[in-house]
Amino acid sequence: MLKIRSATAEDASALWEAEVEVAKTPGRLVSRPNELLLDAFVQKIRELGPRGCYIVAVDGDEVVGHAFLEPMTLAAVQHVYRLTIVVHPGQTGRGVGTALLSHLQRWAAGAPAVGKIELLVRYTNTDAIRLYQRLGFTEEGRFKDRVRLPDGESVDDIAMAWFPPKGTG
Ligand SMILES: CC(C)(COP(=O)(O)OP(=O)(O)OC[C@H]1O[C@@H](n2cnc3c(N)ncnc32)[C@H](O)[C@@H]1OP(=O)(O)O)[C@@H](O)C(=O)NCCC(=O)NCCS
Repeated sequence: MLKIRSATAEDASALWEAEVEVAKTPGRLVSRPNELLLDAFVQKIRELGPRGCYIVAVDGDEVVGHAFLEPMTLAAVQHVYRLTIVVHPGQTGRGVGTALLSHLQRWAAGAPAVGKIELLVRYTNTDAIRLYQRLGFTEEGRFKDRVRLPDGESVDDIAMAWFPPKGTG
């Protein structure tokens, strides 16, 4: 059965390995596989404990996906949290992404500091766009030719956002 819990530093290597695998498919994550560093995963999990929300989905002992919300740093935009979500290889299409994102939305609705959730997604990543739309995210803009794929082709990034209803979390 699927469960959601907070990420710990011990999860870092599983999350890193999964992202490296997912990043091998061009147009999914912006990072290329060699740009993903294990130490950065450990650091992000530690950092977001007090100032964001970093969660994993587990099925028994196996971590099957992870997601986090990270606040922007400047005071004027600190209420804006950026979303990252990665369902691990072989685990898509069974509700893991929905469970992770719904959990983060409930957390955001109950967190006074969160005023807006933003993300960027390649316009070719239709699975992700469908998930975001189904959970209430709307398109805010389009960055033309923003992401360069390894073959030299450029794809547009879509900016999407969701505003947490307050007092419901
Ligand atoms: C995009 C991504 C997060 C979607 O996650 P997912 O776990 O496949 O999403 P879900 O399984 O919750 O939903 C996908 C489909 O499965 C269906 N589904 C199947 N079983 C389900 C269940 N038990 N509960 C809910 N939905 C279920 C959903 O209805 C949905 O159908 P739809 O696409 O026709 O709307 C995932 O594909 C992923 O991590 N991709 C690689 C990384 C990536 O692209 N991240 C986003 C970068 S911006």
